[in-house]
Amino acid sequence: MKILIINGPNLNLLGLREPEIYGSRNYSALCSLIEKSCEELGVEYEIYQSNHEGAIVDKIQNAYSTFDGIVINPAAYTHTSIAILDALKAVSIPTVEVHISDINSRDEFRKFSYVSLAAIKTVMGLGFDGYRVAINELYNYLSK
Ligand code: DQA
Repeated sequence: MKILIINGPNLNLLGLREPEIYGSRNYSALCSLIEKSCEELGVEYEIYQSNHEGAIVDKIQNAYSTFDGIVINPAAYTHTSIAILDALKAVSIPTVEVHISDINSRDEFRKFSYVSLAAIKTVMGLGFDGYRVAINELYNYLSK
């Protein structure tokens, strides 16, 4: 089983970025948690981060027939990107959406997620641990 973990814009600035919302740990700490979660399950993985919508679309397209599942935190593109939604639908790769914060209890504009229309599950509000939960959810789904 091979899974792709995609992180969208500004997640590379974790630690620096609004620590009251996203915590004080940095992006490399998040990557370590992701690596550990995948290794514990014996899952092959790749972690990808981009601040560019088109690059994320390209990455999803290139995942076709290479990856069995996707965990994605589209960050701000969650609320704006039909292109990312369409790419996920096009490749039909089982996808779990994850958010560090609880997007339902913040600004009104964060309540809607395009990506959730293609996701088998959305995990939010659990901080970095949400990635572990998302990876486990995907693993269980793909193992069925
Ligand atoms: C986020 C929530 C989004 O609303 C925001 O734009 C982000 C991060 C989260 O992980 O909580 O960049 O996806």
